[in-house]
Amino acid sequence: MRKAPVAPPATFVIFGALGDLTRRLLVPALLNLTRGGLLAEQTTVLGVSHHDKDDAALRSELDDFIEADDAWATLRERIHYLKGDFTDAATFEALAERIDGNAVFYLATAPSFFGPIVDSLADAGLLEEKKGFRRVVIEKPFGTDLASAKALNARLLARAAETQFYRIDHFLGKETVQNILVARFANVHLEAVWNNRYVDHVEITAAETVDVGTRGKFYDATGALRDMVPNHLFQLLALVGMEPPNSFEAEAVRSERAKLIAAIRRIEPADAVRGRYEAGKIGDKEITAYRKTPEVAPKSKTETYVALKVQVESWRWSGVPFYLRTGKAMRARDTQIIIHFRDAPLKLFREEGVDELPPNRLVLQLQPHEGIKLDFVAKQPGPLIDTVPVSMDFVYADHFPVSHQTGYETLLYDVLIGDQMLFQRADQIEAGWRAVQPLLDAWASDGEPEPYDPGSDGPASADALIARDGRRWNPIA
Ligand code: BG6
Repeated sequence: MRKAPVAPPATFVIFGALGDLTRRLLVPALLNLTRGGLLAEQTTVLGVSHHDKDDAALRSELDDFIEADDAWATLRERIHYLKGDFTDAATFEALAERIDGNAVFYLATAPSFFGPIVDSLADAGLLEEKKGFRRVVIEKPFGTDLASAKALNARLLARAAETQFYRIDHFLGKETVQNILVARFANVHLEAVWNNRYVDHVEITAAETVDVGTRGKFYDATGALRDMVPNHLFQLLALVGMEPPNSFEAEAVRSERAKLIAAIRRIEPADAVRGRYEAGKIGDKEITAYRKTPEVAPKSKTETYVALKVQVESWRWSGVPFYLRTGKAMRARDTQIIIHFRDAPLKLFREEGVDELPPNRLVLQLQPHEGIKLDFVAKQPGPLIDTVPVSMDFVYADHFPVSHQTGYETLLYDVLIGDQMLFQRADQIEAGWRAVQPLLDAWASDGEPEPYDPGSDGPASADALIARDGRRWNPIA
């Protein structure tokens, strides 16, 4: 295995230093980079927030989320705190005093601060790359629809170059997600059948058992469509569907992903189903009905589940439907992509009473139990030609040590080394919103989600959506 080089030193500024993202993901990821020897010794972390704290207070808050070791002792000393309001110019003047050379500005804040913080950074001269790089990492959600995403892109790009913005989608930090590209483009036998001549349809599922819980305020204004589809699910779709890039350079890969997302036909309400979980149980866990969740409107029309039929208008995929679904409080946590291949052209092995052979499928299991499985048909030993479905199974854990990574390590490392491959470009974000905009428009005024039971596979209409085409979903497991 090649050893990755130490990232260049930088001041890693986190706006939203006391938030959940910082303590659960960002600092633990920076710590894992320290453990791996990938963070330069001179790199420091500077947390910014309006609360009345100091270095010692921030460090001790972080202690609760960290397994202490020598690496933590080293990193801990390099974590500092700056008290300041994100909307006050004085905060940015104070910041400018403390930064010299490379800096990363990580906006782990509510989305309403993204534009104002970037403006203030620019006003304070902090985005000028005279003495080192200046990079801004922007969390999701990036906009709430096409118009707001365009406006935010325009606002950011008026103040700094596209190469300085790292729009994060944490799905791209997952090893198994990155492996989709390697599976496709390092294995010619897969790529040879990866098109509408051989693929019948594709299923992309991101099912979660968690309910909305304490995130009512955010979630009720967002819903499953905005929360998961134009970002996470479209990233998966882009990696499965994109053309081979000319090289493995960031721009080449980003352009192909963007092209695929731009080819998604705008999704009409007839091709979409939305659901909302009711009260019930998942195993022993009681689930409160979505509408009874704290900070959710009692008459909320927000969806917690969505299923879509998506068409990609490209030479490779014309006529191949992609069925996407995602939801909360479902039967199991299961993120997977299934490529369903077409039937063999001639049914040579038709058995009495059995008309159809089970189709060949390639299952990319992204989480949990990461792996790749090929379902195919073999001959049952014996004098007759009897067929049986079998599978070849590659399980990550059998080959690689189980990793205790947060999924943010690669992403933060890439920001420090200046590799934008796993980040979203402005055009890609806008193309994602464009594809779902008809649903946002229709659902804002019309109808409401269909109820489903917690611990189920989602609402009945989702089954009807795919059954209409003579197909069915793979059970969530
Ligand atoms: C986040 C969404 O972006 O992704 C959450 O806001 C969702 O609602 C999460 O639970 C899923 O990510 P993961 O990595 O747990 O599959």
